[in-house]
Formats: sequence, C-alpha cells, structure tokens
Amino acid sequence: MSPSSTTVSRIITKEELCLLQKVPASCGLIIFGASGDLTHRKLLPSLFSLAQENLLPKQFYILGVARSPMSDAAFQARALESLGSAGTPAARQEFARHCGYLSGDYQDPSTYEALNQRLTGLDRVYETAGRRIFYLSTPPTLYGAIAHALGRAGLNHSRSASAQATADTRLRDARRDLPAAASGEGGWVRVVVEKPFGSNLRTAEQLNQALHQVFREQQIYRIDHYLGKETVQNILMFRFANAIYEPVWNRKYIDHIQITAAEAAGVEHRAGYYEEAGALRDMFQNHLFQLLSLVAMEPPSSFSAEAVRDEKAKALASLSFPKDCDWEDCAVRGQYEAGAVAEEVVPGYRQEPGVSPASRTETYAALKIEIDNWRWQGVPFYLRSGKRLTARTTDIRVVFKHVPTSIFRPLLADQISPNVLHFRIQPNEGIALQFEAKHPGPKLCMSSVTMHFDYEDAFGIHPPEAYARLFHDVMVDDQTLFARQDWLAHSWRFLDPILERWAEAKERGLAFYPAGSWGPTEADELIQKDGRQWLTD
Ligand code: NDP
Ligand code: BG6
Repeated sequence: MSPSSTTVSRIITKEELCLLQKVPASCGLIIFGASGDLTHRKLLPSLFSLAQENLLPKQFYILGVARSPMSDAAFQARALESLGSAGTPAARQEFARHCGYLSGDYQDPSTYEALNQRLTGLDRVYETAGRRIFYLSTPPTLYGAIAHALGRAGLNHSRSASAQATADTRLRDARRDLPAAASGEGGWVRVVVEKPFGSNLRTAEQLNQALHQVFREQQIYRIDHYLGKETVQNILMFRFANAIYEPVWNRKYIDHIQITAAEAAGVEHRAGYYEEAGALRDMFQNHLFQLLSLVAMEPPSSFSAEAVRDEKAKALASLSFPKDCDWEDCAVRGQYEAGAVAEEVVPGYRQEPGVSPASRTETYAALKIEIDNWRWQGVPFYLRSGKRLTARTTDIRVVFKHVPTSIFRPLLADQISPNVLHFRIQPNEGIALQFEAKHPGPKLCMSSVTMHFDYEDAFGIHPPEAYARLFHDVMVDDQTLFARQDWLAHSWRFLDPILERWAEAKERGLAFYPAGSWGPTEADELIQKDGRQWLTD
C-alpha cells in the first residue's frame, strides 16, 4: 500500500499506520548559525539519521550560513565529523555532498542577496520548487533581525503556489484527514526558531511580532526538542489510547506529581548564554512546562496540531501557586559549588570559564505549583531541574493517594505505599507502575513491587534522536509538536514575576549545593514540609 493512496474510506490498522511515515517532498534546509555547537552535535546527526531511515527526500540540500569564513568543502568535512561512525562511509559521503556553506554577516543585506542567488541555483539543481526551511540557530537576540532580513529580501515566501499549499493544509486539518501525499506539493517557506523564545513575556511578544511581520503563524515552528523525544510523545498515547487511566487521572485519585530533569553535566561551554538564562529560563519555561502540559491537559478532540495545542495552552493558563504558599515559599533556586560527579572532581559554577565569580545565576530550581482547574485543584506539582546533580535523569512520577482505609491492621492506610506511575523519559526509557504485593512469608507480609515497560526491550531499538522527528514534522507541515504563541505567553506570564523577584532579591535566597548532590536542602524542605519526598531510583 502506498501512503499516497491512503484515504479514510476504510478501516486502517495500527500496523499500517506505523508504516505511514511520509517521505517529504524535495526541499532545502538553510541553517543560520551553522558553524555552532547545535548544528554540529545535534542537527546534522539527526538529519543523517533521517536519511538512513529513508525519511529525507532524495532531493535535499543543507546550506549552512554563518559569519565564520568556511568553504563548502570545509563545511562538508565538519559535517562528516559530526556524523562520527554512524551509517556506512559511502552513506556519510553522500550526505555530506548535499551540504554547502555561505559565509556572511546576519544583519548585512548583501548576505541575503548572496543567499537569494545561491538558493535559486540550489532549488534548480534539487528541483525543490522553492520549498525551503530556514532554521534559526544563532544567539536568540539575532532571530528578529534575521527574520526581518529574510522578509526584506523576499525570502519569506515561495514564488510558486505557497498560498495554495497552505489552503490545502488547512482543509486537511479541518477534515482531520490522513496526511496527503507530499509529492506534487507547491512551494513553501517555513521557519524553525530555536529556544529560548524570548527571555520574558515582553521579549517573547516582541519576537513573535518580528516573526509575524514576515511570516504567517502557519509557517512558524517554535522548536522544543523535548517534544521530539519518543517517551515524551508517549505520554499522549499512554493517556489517551488506554481506557483505564483517564478515570483516575484527577484530584480524586492523584496525591501529587513530580517532574524532574536532572543533569550531571555542568554549564559546559555555554556560559555566555547560561549566565543570562539560568535554570528557570533554560529548562522550566520550555521543557518542564511542556511535560507538565502533556500530563495535565484535557483530552483533545483529535490528534491534530490545533486541538492538541489548544488543550496544552489551557492547562498552562491555569498555572498558579498553591494557596498555602506564595512564590517565596514555593520557588527554590540554587547554584552548584565544587564537588564530585561520578567520582570526578568538578569546579563550582562560579569557577567555570566565562562565568562571573560573583554570578547569581541559578543552576537549579524547584517549584511547587498547581493547575487551578476542576481536574487538578489542590494537587501539587513539584518540578525540579538542575545541572551538576547526581545523575542525568528526566522523569515524571504520578503518585496516587493512599488507600482510604486499611483492612491489614495493625498496618494503617498511610503505612501502605501508594501506587506510583513512573514515566522514565531518559535514560532507560520506559514506564513503570509500583504497587503493593504479598511478600512470601507471614500472612501480613507486604512489599512494593514494580511492573516495567522498557522501550528498548519492547521495540528492540534505541529511541531515535528527538531532532530527527521534529525535522520530519517541519518537512511534512505538522505543527503538533511545536510550541504555539499562546502557550509560550502563559509560560512566561507565570515565570516573569518569579524571575523579577529573584533579580530584586540578588543573592538572598540563592542556596548552594555541592556538585554531585541532588540539589540544595531547601528543595528537600519544599516537599518535606508537605509530608512528601522527592522520589529517585
Ligand atoms: P553557538 O553559541 O554555538 O552559536 C551558533 C553560531 O552563532 C556560532 O557558531 C556563531 O557563528 C554565531 N554566533 C555566536 N555568537 C554570536 C554573536 N555574538 N553574534 C553573532 N553571531 C554569533 O550556539 P549553539 O549552536 O549552541 O545554539 C544555537 C541556538 O540553539 C541558540 O539559540 C541556543 O540557545 C539553542 N540551543 C542550543 C542547544 C545546544 O545544546 N547547543 C540546545 C538547545 C537550544 P559565526 O560566528 O560563524 O557567525
Ligand atoms: C537544552 C538546554 O535545551 O536542553 C541545556 O539549553 C540542557 O542546558 C539540554 O542541557 C538538556 O537536553 P537533554 O535532551 O540532554 O535532556
């Protein structure tokens, strides 16, 4: 069966749907900031993995744009370096042949004249009909200026049939149809914007305005690589493709939810960016709040981009601090000091290259928050993320309530461990359910045991690289896994007051923790004063 011939006129099996990965139409990808770390470490390897799965069009080119002088050959050599030993040497060479480079200043109109000329030639060679993706991977302060320059050079739209392509897409979404065939598409231009999207609500709105002066919302893909992780997408499948969880997914049965994104790595070479950002902007505003939205959202009316994003935005619009505490009691920030991670002695944040010796940037944050709606009112969500913690682990734990009463006297209800549903986002991707079981031995012997679903065991493969999935979605025009403007606004609206108060408080309230620990003791107290504790493996 060819995907292009599929319609919804007959019942389609789950197995057939798995095969329905469409090969996108020929197109070109233009990466601004291509000399940088992200392109090298993530973007090029992900694109190569797509090519390996035959999910990249045969007619596809990558054009890197950045200020550093570099020839096409030098960029191709870097691309080969990025791919390491993935695939075969022949496949790597073939991939590198599709890569080119243009050097120029991001704000200089002559860069865009040269770009225009180069793209016209590439589009002809690769027969792309003007289908182009511009990927903004420079420092974020340049995104608005690059968008503006693209608009001024007329590169924000395709000369052929972009209006028709958009109308077709809208119609398709409205019908909730299966994806149409990629071949035969007209031209289009899409822009992918890397995080961070603004540094507060005001700058996020400014960036939105700058983008909207040049691009329509339908063309804009605000990327958050967490949404490309298979285990993150699986939250939706788990919740809405299984009937048994939804009835208990609420304040009546759930005691609280914990979301942890812990990193063993420090700030690495990104001090310039991180000093201005800190953990709240770097991890909460995007990745952690995305996880929160997926866990907390109402069932969408369909699996279409707008229906899913409507519900995620609504969940975030209800964010609040619990009534029993305000921002000061429910928001902890910390910074790592020297310590040892996996037996390696590492410096404190203030001693890292490029970091001010008096830096007040938080490398750790923990929040206790609530989603103030009918489903979640009164259920605390504890979120934490930090660098230089004991281990790299990202997970979500849904902790259910204790049994209402105990028949196993003298054990009391609160001595019987509650069920915990554990989404292991990374590493050891999977899901586990903890429950109570009869332990061999005397009549009243009970233990907590765990039922495991392990991603690799079940499917026999490593979860693919998040960026690969997201690239594919941009090419096939699916915005489901990309942040929408209103979601971002809700997220910043909640975080702005905390960030402002932390800035005003200067060092007051900044807690220090040794590298290699689980964070400051203040974060433990945040949850312990509610009679709970952070759960770790
Ligand atoms: P880099 O700091 O490596 O910058 C990318 C490129 O931008 C550089 O190679 C440089 O190219 C150019 N650049 C750097 N500083 C300036 C400057 N002051 N003025 C003009 N151009 C500059 O960034 P990354 O590749 O690490 O990240 C790119 C984007 O992706 C950033 O917005 C980052 O926040 C985001 N991101 C990065 C992640 C990562 O793991 N690296 C993860 C998630 C998001 P040249 O000098 O050649 O012009
Ligand atoms: C990035 C942050 O968005 O996510 C980094 O800027 C962080 O600071 C990274 O290290 C974590 O991503 P992952 O996929 O390794 O969990």
